[in-house]
Amino acid sequence: MEAKFWHESWEIGGSKTSFHRLDIHPYVQKYANPDRLKGKNVFVPLAGKTNDLTWLRSHADHVIGVELVEQPIHEFFTENKLPYKNHGQGRFETEKMTFFNRNLFDLTVQEVGQVDFVYDRASLIAFPNAMRMDYLKKMHELCSIGSQTLLITLEYEPNLGSPPFSVTPKDVEIYYGEHYEINHVEQPSLPEHRMKIKLNLDFLKEHCFILTKRRH
Ligand SMILES: C[S@@+](CC[C@H](N)C(=O)[O-])C[C@H]1O[C@@H](n2cnc3c(N)ncnc32)[C@H](O)[C@@H]1O
Repeated sequence: MEAKFWHESWEIGGSKTSFHRLDIHPYVQKYANPDRLKGKNVFVPLAGKTNDLTWLRSHADHVIGVELVEQPIHEFFTENKLPYKNHGQGRFETEKMTFFNRNLFDLTVQEVGQVDFVYDRASLIAFPNAMRMDYLKKMHELCSIGSQTLLITLEYEPNLGSPPFSVTPKDVEIYYGEHYEINHVEQPSLPEHRMKIKLNLDFLKEHCFILTKRRH
């Protein structure tokens, strides 16, 4: 989506930012467990102000988030009572965490450094088809061989014209199959999901994958 869409979403709030959860995502607790995160550098693209960042920060070595809109970055630090410094050029720091207020596509490998683990919830599926390949290319550039990605997607019908977009396991195979080993670990149907009910969808499933990068 265009930057304007996200700036307006955060300004309006309410149903426009209903992707924001108050809990720690159960799949983060289950699959980004302390053992898996120990000593790792974690990268969170399109971070919003997700509370999952606090979990990742507690158990990993360092967390880097990137978020286009400045408002959720300040809200994240304030709501989680984390003192932080503005180092200029959109770089905010607290202990064990760097938050870039940037467009993901402008971040360089030098700025991000070594990436061992990626948390992608509502990031891949935030991009329409036309932008998704650029996203995959950028993430591929930033991720090291051996790195793992915890990917959470939604699949539903009929298709909508706005995020979150439906991404199927077959799509994931097409997007990642060449470079990643794909482990499809969860796929519950969610008949009570707010989107399923509000938009009267035929069905909605949440998928969770652990991707391990095998080659460049
Ligand atoms: C659907 S939200 C998901 C936020 C977070 N991952 C979560 O689970 O709550 C997508 C977020 O990505 C941000 N965003 C969209 N495009 C971006 C881009 N190109 N670079 C950085 N952030 C972006 C939006 O402002 C928004 O906060």
